[in-house]
Amino acid sequence: MPFSQYIQLNDGNKIPLIAFGVGSAVSKRWGNAKALPELVKTALQAGYRHLDTAEEYENEEEVAEGIRMSGVPREDIFITAKDLSTESVTTEQALRKTLNNLGVEYVDLYLIHNAMFAKNDQDWQRKWTEMEAVREKGLARSIGVSNVERQKIEAILKIAKVPPAINQIELHPYFQRTELASWLKQQNIALACYSPLAPLRSTRPGPVDDIFQSLAEKYNVDESEIGLRWAIDQDRVVITTSSKVERVRGYAKSLPSFKLTSDEISDIAELGKKKEFSGFWQFFAPSGGDK
Ligand SMILES: NC(=O)c1ccc[n+]([C@@H]2O[C@H](COP(=O)([O-])OP(=O)(O)OC[C@H]3O[C@@H](n4cnc5c(N)ncnc54)[C@H](OP(=O)(O)O)[C@@H]3O)[C@@H](O)[C@H]2O)c1
Repeated sequence: MPFSQYIQLNDGNKIPLIAFGVGSAVSKRWGNAKALPELVKTALQAGYRHLDTAEEYENEEEVAEGIRMSGVPREDIFITAKDLSTESVTTEQALRKTLNNLGVEYVDLYLIHNAMFAKNDQDWQRKWTEMEAVREKGLARSIGVSNVERQKIEAILKIAKVPPAINQIELHPYFQRTELASWLKQQNIALACYSPLAPLRSTRPGPVDDIFQSLAEKYNVDESEIGLRWAIDQDRVVITTSSKVERVRGYAKSLPSFKLTSDEISDIAELGKKKEFSGFWQFFAPSGGDK
């Protein structure tokens, strides 16, 4: 059974709230991509309908193989891809290569992976115009950004015909981005959270350990599922990954079976504020931003 939770983006398209990410543990660049086709197949057959990919992960062909092996029709899958933004190729050239690698005619969502290439606002705004052009040609159904602060989105909004549909950022209880998240909400720009399980894998022990454990017991699920629902139950897209078939299947079974209450969401948030951790932000935005 496919996960049935979606939200609507500001361009009218629907996005599934749970994505299987193919970076980190299963990328060719930082992990082991050999097992990836099987994992993508397992994820799709288990009910995931959203794959989060990127040119930078160097595994688009393996993702394509997994999609073919799954037997799930292309039109039932929401594919997010990301542009690395190198100076040597245009956005359209980069996206056409990605489409070719993925074996598809369009992606559902195309993101500028980060703003590190842009020397100034003009570079950044020019890039957004190229993003609008690939959308206009039907190569990407929605367009958005990743790893950017409010100021970068404001620069886009000054010139945009189509505003960004989403900002994909690191977000978890130890890095809540409260101001950015509430500003995005006011602008009707969706939020996608990566590294949702950082409190479980990178920074233990920590102040959310006990509540994750007690809620996992209450709902009879794994602690990682508490971390994922904390994002989903705030209407945020959550991007997680796993190198283990059992975990991929387990999420598909357990995540639709429960929901956190609003008190539980705020209790986790309050405890999370007692610790600060970011695995990525200092790399993409060394000048900081709200935590
Ligand atoms: N836009 C960007 O710049 C950007 C940056 C980073 C990531 N991403 C995307 O987000 C995806 C997910 O990123 P992430 O890896 O940081 O996600 P994550 O969901 O925080 O972490 C996933 C990892 O957590 C481990 N895990 C799960 N439950 C655990 C537990 N109870 N205890 C200890 N470890 C546990 C899993 O290990 P097992 O493998 O053992 O199951 C898996 O490797 C990436 O694949 C990528 O698609 C995007």
